[in-house]
Amino acid sequence: MEVHIGPEDLRAALHDDARLGLTAPDKWLPPVWFYDDRGSKLFDDITRLDEYYPTRAERLLLDVHAAEIADRTQADTLVELGAGTCDKSRILLAALVGAGTLGRYVPLDVSNTTLWEAAGGICRDFPGLQLHAVVGDFHRHLDVLPRGGRRLVAFLGGTIGNLTQRERKRFLFDLDCTMDGDDHLLLGADLVKDPARLVAAYDDAAGVTAEFNRNVLHVLNRELGATFEPERFEHVARWDPESRCIEMRLRAEVSHTVDLADLGLQIAFTAGEELRTEVSAKFTTDQVAAELWEGGFVVEQMWDEPGGDFLLVLARPCC
Ligand code: SAH
Ligand code: TRP
Repeated sequence: MEVHIGPEDLRAALHDDARLGLTAPDKWLPPVWFYDDRGSKLFDDITRLDEYYPTRAERLLLDVHAAEIADRTQADTLVELGAGTCDKSRILLAALVGAGTLGRYVPLDVSNTTLWEAAGGICRDFPGLQLHAVVGDFHRHLDVLPRGGRRLVAFLGGTIGNLTQRERKRFLFDLDCTMDGDDHLLLGADLVKDPARLVAAYDDAAGVTAEFNRNVLHVLNRELGATFEPERFEHVARWDPESRCIEMRLRAEVSHTVDLADLGLQIAFTAGEELRTEVSAKFTTDQVAAELWEGGFVVEQMWDEPGGDFLLVLARPCC
């Protein structure tokens, strides 16, 4: 396992993000801080909720098309960005092993423990596969990923939608710069649909997503000596038809002040004030193709399932 973000780097980055986001006029935090051990487990629970359709839809697409993906790419390395528990990756791994081309799996994630546990399971179940796990940030560490051969770079789970439009542009451009002619990109993107279903997927009846959202406050308390009382914040998931995003927010129920001891900051919340914690953009097929093209990729194949919920795209760098 290769570690590009140690605990000290994490703490320094969290300091910077918290100072920037919580002192802004419209308070916000980047989503990467959801995923400590507890947050990663809560996300895993989300993927099994009835309301959360993306994981099921993407798994179905992979089940049906993995053999074709393996055949088209002939990949000897599967690189996966934001791999998490590597659950769905197993479908791709099995197909590439079946095709007889795969030698190496390179999952990258910011969550050290989750990656470690997932990697253990993959080692057991895919003997002979070379495993090269990377603890890193896909905004900063694409250039440390091993190159050469024919790589399939997977970015699944609709995580591309958690980047703002500006971040997506930069991310795709950076990724394209690290890709060679024989490499492919496999992108999973969630599609625009009935807002009621979208909102339910991010505001489930059992309150798991609410707990996941509030987890970022627990992280700030632990890592920055902050005094957030997470139960004083209400989970908000709102569809914005203009930006075609689900926005996740935490709304302060009452006016109060939070201490951030390690930053020497006091942050005041008015009653009803919202802290933006995440966006999850939803796409049309044309938009995905256009953004990929702008980022230097050409679409080779697109698949959506009968429900039209989710899109899987195989693309390659233009030149
Ligand atoms: N690919 C999995 C997990 C999706 S959840 C799936 O499809 O189910 C998003 C994953 O990306 C989490 O595991 C989280 O830890 C990771 N992640 C979030 N921001 C990241 C970043 N900036 N760099 C690397 N990993 C990140
Ligand atoms: N990539 C996931 C998505 O946008 C992440 C996610 C699911 C999420 N549910 C969430 C992020 C709730 C924040 C809050 O679908």
